[in-house]
Amino acid sequence: MQMRRALCVFLLLCLFWPTSALAYRLPRIGLFVYNAEDAFMQTVCARVLEVAQGRAHVTLMDGANSQILQNDQVYQMLREGVDALIINPVDRTTAVYLTRAAMRYQVPVVFINREPLYEDLVLYDRAYYVGNDPRESGTMSGQLIADYFKAHPEADKNGDGIIQYVMLKGEPGHQDAELRTIYSVKALEAAGFEVQNLVEEPAMWVRALAQERMSHIIASYGNRIECVLSNNDEMALGAIDALKAAGYFTEGRFMPVVGVDATAQALEALKEGTLLGTVLNDAINQGNAILLLAVAAITGDFSDYPYEIVDNHYVWVPYRIVTADTIH
Ligand code: GAL
Repeated sequence: MQMRRALCVFLLLCLFWPTSALAYRLPRIGLFVYNAEDAFMQTVCARVLEVAQGRAHVTLMDGANSQILQNDQVYQMLREGVDALIINPVDRTTAVYLTRAAMRYQVPVVFINREPLYEDLVLYDRAYYVGNDPRESGTMSGQLIADYFKAHPEADKNGDGIIQYVMLKGEPGHQDAELRTIYSVKALEAAGFEVQNLVEEPAMWVRALAQERMSHIIASYGNRIECVLSNNDEMALGAIDALKAAGYFTEGRFMPVVGVDATAQALEALKEGTLLGTVLNDAINQGNAILLLAVAAITGDFSDYPYEIVDNHYVWVPYRIVTADTIH
């Protein structure tokens, strides 16, 4: 009899006090990645899943580079009653629709890696962005090249006092591609160098594409190339593949190449001496910040949240320069 009464009280509580129901089960979170083949995003998602252990049930969905597909996936999960969304949008400029969807279903949404426009984020008080400032990573990769040219004046191969560079760009329109491109060059200029862009090629963050583009660039510009700035490590590694095929990195033929992310393969290339330097895009701290923010936003209790939330919507995770001497 007493058991039955206790059960009735529990069921009533669950019915009329939804947050108490949440306390009895782990929250469900949808994690939507723009393209599951992206090397850096794989490490971020792996970390989110790891931190979720014992805290939330996370379902990972691959947008396969299609915003239409990702929209369907988000709506599907909302209809199934998910408690929060973590979205790495395919097209960051359309995030407004996803913010509105989260708002309609009254669940929090954490955007990651591809920054929505400010006005699309702040229209909902439970919408957040976890990412970093691409101006920082751009500046750091430019500094790596500047330091190299200061230490190796002979790297100015034609001795004209100008650094002739190749820029491998990520996806056009992506804040990281646009701003890393601009700020890496600004950093070289700020360090007192005159620069000349030989060619700027988008290679969509992808190693194989960058390798192919770089082979053509080497065929066209040959010895005029004095360094390669790449918006990420995958493309830097693709450039190194092409440079190796053209005889670089043997018999003292070096080409300064820098990337961003500090992926495991990039760290190998640093140790091997092919990649000059990279910038840590901190997947571990981003993964922690993302999952813990989604969980905190579900309950509304941010008291244990270990990162600073800026302007009620933003969590910024800093970058750091990594060279062969500073790999930990
Ligand atoms: C950047 C990262 C790239 C790629 C891109 C995807 O932050 O450096 O490697 O993962 O995000 O949006």
